[in-house]
Amino acid sequence: MSQLETPLFTGLLKHMKKNPVQFHIPGHKKGAGMDPEFRAFIGDNALAIDLINISPLDDLHHPKGMIKRAQELAAEAFGADYTFFSVQGTSGAIMTMVMSVAGPGDKIIVPRNVHKSVMSAIVFSGATPIFIHPEIDKELGISHGITPQAVEKALRQHPDAKGVLVINPTYFGIAGDLKKIVDIAHSYNVPVLVDEAHGVHIHFHEDLPLSAMQAGADMAATSVHKLGGSLTQSSILNVREGLVSAKHVQAVLSMLTTTSTSYLLLASLDVARKQLATKGRELIDKAIRLADWTRRQINEIPYLYCVGEEILGTEATYDYDPTKLIISVKELGLTGHDVEQWLREMHNIEVELSDLYNILCIITPGDTEREAGLLVEALRRLSKQFSHQAEKGVKPKVLLPDIPALALTPRDAFYAETEVVPFHESAGRIIAEFVMVYPPGIPIFIPGEIITEENLKYIETNLAAGLPVQGPEDDTLQTLRVIKEYKPIR
Ligand SMILES: Cc1ncc(COP(=O)(O)O)c(C=O)c1O
Repeated sequence: MSQLETPLFTGLLKHMKKNPVQFHIPGHKKGAGMDPEFRAFIGDNALAIDLINISPLDDLHHPKGMIKRAQELAAEAFGADYTFFSVQGTSGAIMTMVMSVAGPGDKIIVPRNVHKSVMSAIVFSGATPIFIHPEIDKELGISHGITPQAVEKALRQHPDAKGVLVINPTYFGIAGDLKKIVDIAHSYNVPVLVDEAHGVHIHFHEDLPLSAMQAGADMAATSVHKLGGSLTQSSILNVREGLVSAKHVQAVLSMLTTTSTSYLLLASLDVARKQLATKGRELIDKAIRLADWTRRQINEIPYLYCVGEEILGTEATYDYDPTKLIISVKELGLTGHDVEQWLREMHNIEVELSDLYNILCIITPGDTEREAGLLVEALRRLSKQFSHQAEKGVKPKVLLPDIPALALTPRDAFYAETEVVPFHESAGRIIAEFVMVYPPGIPIFIPGEIITEENLKYIETNLAAGLPVQGPEDDTLQTLRVIKEYKPIR
């Protein structure tokens, strides 16, 4: 089979052309039974391939036909032994990675700044996380990845760990020395699981960081939908056999997956793989050049700083993805969220994310000089409008609190007897729920951690800046759910 072929998408088209009379779900029957306004908007083509796993169309849970062939082509393109399609986002693929190596009581080494899906899987599986402190960038107020030394130290102390999970690259596009981390973990016979949510494209261009499969990792959960051109929610799980069994991984993925798998999502993975494999290098090259141009322009604007290769040189900042534009706005005396809102209201520009100090914009093959120019022009205006604040010279202090201590395993805390206490009276208690800012979805608290004043203040600062703090049952954050304490009876 050639990478130019799309067995799944082509198979669906063939089926559609036969125009079968359908007595199966979905009940909208090619759109005929659907709200006419939505049907007209989305179009009959999309609705005609919104199908389910009837036998000519194969079955994601036991692929033997067109899905199997599409997954084999993907494996070849990504340098994996096996590729499994996920219709549950990268979150589903990440949960599969964790749950296929670690069971109740097993140790798994993870950076503390993991996506919530890792922590959810740790709660579901009953595994014990061994946290590694990520490297903190005090200038930018963001976390990077973990270093090979930290992995070595963790494995020396916990050689019985069932896996090492690495985020590579980070949301901000920063990569560690993944090859070295893999070599260290493999010297202990421990598999490496990579959260590659932000790195589907890196495999296809030699100027980008090494991909998980290139570095020899055992599994990688890769968001094709984020930067690889497929529809939102569609991802892949790449597997290298040896320390993990592909059959077991597939069984776990199946347990975590809906039986009503969307063929629109699956077909979009098939065509995205074709585009990446056959034209990826050329398209990504164009995106890198456009991002480099944009970065240079932004760095000429007073009070703004767009991160470039000068960030490299530490073990945690071993390589980076130049298509990510991390723009530090703190010199303007504004938060990243202020700038996000200003760009929305004044210029109809939407950024990827903002935090207290930065905005993140991504450049992909979908962008042209026109969009990049609009961003640069808007940022010039921003700098001019707020330069009076910057000239006052108040240097903002970057606040990034320490990671709280873990008193109970996340699962024990999640299932423990709990009570609700006022937010301001919660310091010193053990939290029973997640608190995170989304995006990027990195927990400030995970169940089992001891609440500190410093972390409560960090939550308040994020709330005051208008950032989306999520997780607790009480979404007003007036209260937090904590482990119940029994006072001695007098
Ligand atoms: C680092 C990281 N991992 C995993 C995910 C989950 O990906 P998905 O939204 O495809 O489930 C995200 C999503 O933003 C992420 O930022």
